[in-house]
Amino acid sequence: MAPDTRPSERLDRAVIFLGPPGAGKGTQAMELAKHFGVPHLSTGDMLREHVGKGTTLGLKAKPIMERGELVPDSLVLKMVAERIERPDCAHGFVFDGFPRTVAQAKYLGELLKLHGFKRPFVIHLVIDPSVLMRRLTGRRTCKVSGEIYNIYDRPPKVPGICDADGGELVQRPDDREEVIGPRLHAYEKQTAPLAAYYRRLGLLHDIDATKSVDEVKRQVLQSVHSVRGVR
Ligand code: AP5
Repeated sequence: MAPDTRPSERLDRAVIFLGPPGAGKGTQAMELAKHFGVPHLSTGDMLREHVGKGTTLGLKAKPIMERGELVPDSLVLKMVAERIERPDCAHGFVFDGFPRTVAQAKYLGELLKLHGFKRPFVIHLVIDPSVLMRRLTGRRTCKVSGEIYNIYDRPPKVPGICDADGGELVQRPDDREEVIGPRLHAYEKQTAPLAAYYRRLGLLHDIDATKSVDEVKRQVLQSVHSVRGVR
């Protein structure tokens, strides 16, 4: 008989990772999603896929992303609403890079209610901005699996090649120094206020994201376990 590979725990809610570019949202969201066997929903990855395929949405988003600005809510919200309706989201999902404005957060709140989900669990990755430039300029991502590396702190065994599947590692176009500045600015202006919004709702959990990937992962899991099941 085939071994039972189903996760032993169920998430049954949305988890949101909040934090500036390079804080480790993607790295941690991927790990948490694997742990609970639920989808990892990165709006950045979804948008990059649209850009790569040259869809109507991708053509609109491309120049905006290249400038390091946020894509308008009207484009992002429809994409997210369609995604969470798919059957693989029935037992919860992990957002990475969404919501990013208070308007997006309010819309998400309504959407979760509509689909009968519990209130979301929000993980706020708190980090000193001085380390972000090194993390972003050093990031390399697998073209096949999306696995995230860093040439300084998390290098692959063979330069340019993914350890897991041999895929090519590439640098994101918006990880150039001249685009990182505007991205950090957009975060401070439009996304940072979300921390106060979720704190007021009693949903925010601060995690020290300057620690190692494994230590942050341990803290995230501990935090999720501490309140899972609470409505
Ligand atoms: P998006 O793809 O969401 O990018 P971002 O928010 O800028 O975040 P990043 O992916 O750059 O960083 P991360 O926090 O995920 O860090 P990671 O884990 O990779 O968005 C891109 C663009 O899309 C936006 O600018 C916008 O235009 C558009 N967009 C997306 N969503 C949108 C929305 N909702 N609304 C409007 N527009 C939207 O780690 C970074 C590096 O650090 C890696 O190399 C990693 O290995 C390393 N690292 C991670 N953790 C650690 C650690 N603990 N110690 C040492 N190194 C670490």
